[in-house]
Amino acid sequence: MPDRILTNRELELMVDTNDEWIITRTGIRERRICDPEWATSDLALLAAEKAIKNAGIAAADLDLILVATVTPDMLFPSTACLLQGRLGANKAAAFDISAGCTGFIYALAVADRFLLAGGHRYILVVGAETLSRITDYTDRNTCVLFGDGAGAVVLGRGDGTNGILSTYLGADGSAESLLYLPAGGSRMPASHRTVDDHLHYVRMQGNEVFRYAVNAIPECVKQVLEPAGLSIDEVDHFIFHQANIRILQTAAKRMGIPWDKMIVNIERYGNMSAASIPLAIAEAVDDGVIHPGQLLVMVGFGAGMTMGSALVRWGR
Ligand code: UT7
Repeated sequence: MPDRILTNRELELMVDTNDEWIITRTGIRERRICDPEWATSDLALLAAEKAIKNAGIAAADLDLILVATVTPDMLFPSTACLLQGRLGANKAAAFDISAGCTGFIYALAVADRFLLAGGHRYILVVGAETLSRITDYTDRNTCVLFGDGAGAVVLGRGDGTNGILSTYLGADGSAESLLYLPAGGSRMPASHRTVDDHLHYVRMQGNEVFRYAVNAIPECVKQVLEPAGLSIDEVDHFIFHQANIRILQTAAKRMGIPWDKMIVNIERYGNMSAASIPLAIAEAVDDGVIHPGQLLVMVGFGAGMTMGSALVRWGR
């Protein structure tokens, strides 16, 4: 996490908003923001180094590096390649995954398939974002929501009892206009006009995305639990993308998930897109909330629109 904290009180001085609205409508009290000279690969590097150390391997042991992000350092090369170079992971192939806030789940599913196919021993999966770089701090509809951060995991081949038990991925490209960044790509290359019109910032139809999310989460949970013959009662922790506390509450209520099974940290970090799930896991593991042998269900949803889930038995 970057050290710099941006509070609701500070946002009150920037746009027409207030602490009470932000807390009651989103559950967010503060978020982390990178210093200007930092980029996504810098955060990714910190998270990756910790994950590699915890896994007890060396960067040179990695066969593949996947970085899920919507805020790459640049259009190309990929942030995964920049990370590979800085880690000195010379053996590893590297590429980015763009699936909005579902990016980490998409990357987990891809890594899982690579491991199952054989030939790969260790894969680094990172969710890293500097959303502050694409946030319009004159737009109260979006600027109160987003924060910067990164989380990482190392996946290795297991014996089939622990680790990723199943994944589910979905997309609805017809809903692309609900959440997008208009300029900077081939459709609308950067120009004086795109800068003047604030087109390099995220655009979101909040209400529609909210509706999409509360329908997507139960579907995603069902898609990984049903094939495994498991029920909600048998899951120890639910780690959903941290976009809005009301989305988490609505989804938990609809599915009858007791609130104490929900891993929630949105209050302190806001929405960190692809970084939110791995960071929530890292904190819960560090705090002794997640234990080896426990069953976890992770769910992501976001730009695309995309959705995805993973059923995991925590290894160590
Ligand atoms: O990461 C995945 C993608 N993102 C999400 O999942 C986000 C999903 N959506 C949301 O979290 C919510 O829709 C928001 C938090 C973005 C907005 O909350 P809402 O309860 O849906 O508010 P709203 O957009 O319906 O706006 C209600 C009112 C409006 O005023 P009027 O038109 O009723 O007078 C807004 O202008 O609240 C106003 N408003 C604000 N007021 C104070 C919107 N933003 C703010 C603000 N401070 N920051």
